[in-house]
Amino acid sequence: MTGAGPAMLVARDAAAFLHQRGSTPVARAVVAAEGSWLTDGDGHRVLDGHGNGCHHIGYRHPRLVDALTRQLATLPFAPRRFTNAPAVALAERLAGLWPYGPARVLFAPSGSDAIEIALKLAYVATGRQGSIAFTGAWHGAGLGALSVGGRFAEAAPMPRLSGCRHVPAYWPTDGLGDADAAARVSYQALVAAFGNGPPPAALLAEPVHSAPGLPPPWFWPAVARLARDHGSLLIFDEIPTGLGKTGRWFASQHFDVTPDITVLGKALGGAVMPLAALIARADLDRAGHLAIGHVTHEKNPMLATAGLATLDVLADGDLVARAAELGARLAAGLDRLTAAGGALRGARVAGLLAALWLRPDQDPLAVERRCYALGLNLTVDRAGRLSLSLPLIVTASDIDRVVAVLAQALPAAEPVALPAVEPVALPAVEPVALPAVEPVALPAVEPVALPAMEPVALPAMEPVALPGD
Ligand SMILES: Cc1ncc(COP(=O)(O)O)c(C=O)c1O
Repeated sequence: MTGAGPAMLVARDAAAFLHQRGSTPVARAVVAAEGSWLTDGDGHRVLDGHGNGCHHIGYRHPRLVDALTRQLATLPFAPRRFTNAPAVALAERLAGLWPYGPARVLFAPSGSDAIEIALKLAYVATGRQGSIAFTGAWHGAGLGALSVGGRFAEAAPMPRLSGCRHVPAYWPTDGLGDADAAARVSYQALVAAFGNGPPPAALLAEPVHSAPGLPPPWFWPAVARLARDHGSLLIFDEIPTGLGKTGRWFASQHFDVTPDITVLGKALGGAVMPLAALIARADLDRAGHLAIGHVTHEKNPMLATAGLATLDVLADGDLVARAAELGARLAAGLDRLTAAGGALRGARVAGLLAALWLRPDQDPLAVERRCYALGLNLTVDRAGRLSLSLPLIVTASDIDRVVAVLAQALPAAEPVALPAVEPVALPAVEPVALPAVEPVALPAVEPVALPAMEPVALPAMEPVALPGD
């Protein structure tokens, strides 16, 4: 099978890759990315409200491209027995950025790997082997990360690490329920889990769930005290929420809490390199006799250069503070849409992360398709929730555009008062042009019927974000 047209690419993708939920088959092909925008195979441009959580500084930021071009021309790789300037500089920068005292760093080529290294460090440092995490939490696709994470259906066919325990999530499972009540149930379960059974090496959690779920202010200080009293380490997974997405460099900074280890990923590689990192209390440097993070691209200078350029762009543009401001604008817009009494039941927003719940009679996939046709890429999970993760380079008018597109895409009960950006500003968009990416009549590949793209068809699992989002 040959051909590079969008339908043909989609078909070749479906024929070439092992199928897996959420990744293959897919409905669309992308051919270009710049700033906050993607261009798909039909030439249709969309503001990317997903980016897999990687596009904080947008796509192809000139500073990133320039830094990588220069690095490529001098030192593209470093065998493990050598150190190199970008790797050391990035480790120092991250340790300096971490607001919780002296720190040391390790890099890994994926968030899942970094989570597993953090766990290994906790096992060695505490001399224990168990863990506690939250039901429904995703911490990566590796066997260790799957074991400790709380997506049981995904982990069910796999062998699992022993000693991984789970307590109910601190976020309301229906998204819009009482956050304080959910946190109280979760906390009581943690008290019981720490009280019964061997104390774990670590409690692993996202400080703000990427759904997003912000626990009440009392939650993390109380949980951290509990963990400390039992000699367990607190590991915060900030892979989707770190580096400013929620309006603080670390989402943990929304709370009066000090983690022992923070794991970053996704955006750290500037939406070009696969890069994750763990930042640990310096006094946890107790595994030097082992090779807990011994991976080939551990100190890859290209990866580190992408990390440094990303931090530069975020810091120099004051993008983290802007994420907080623009997040407030987004929240206000979504509140207006909710108040209009149309299809939107409610939304939760943390900086530039947002989750939207529709009324039960709405078809979230149809809303997603309308948004896409109107120029906004967002995702729908199996529970029917719409998710937005906007880049930190968006402007106020981009935020208004997002709200305007949603206002058009959601069946409205009454007109909504929208801010200054008229939906007219949307670039060349024929709503009809897109969804028609059907797999054409491709002989050998008919099964491209894209079954996995209908979350509705998949029976209810935990109402959480798709793995990899
Ligand atoms: C909270 C969380 N932890 C861990 C991971 C795993 O990161 P990666 O896909 O880079 O392995 C993800 C990815 O979606 C995530 O959202």
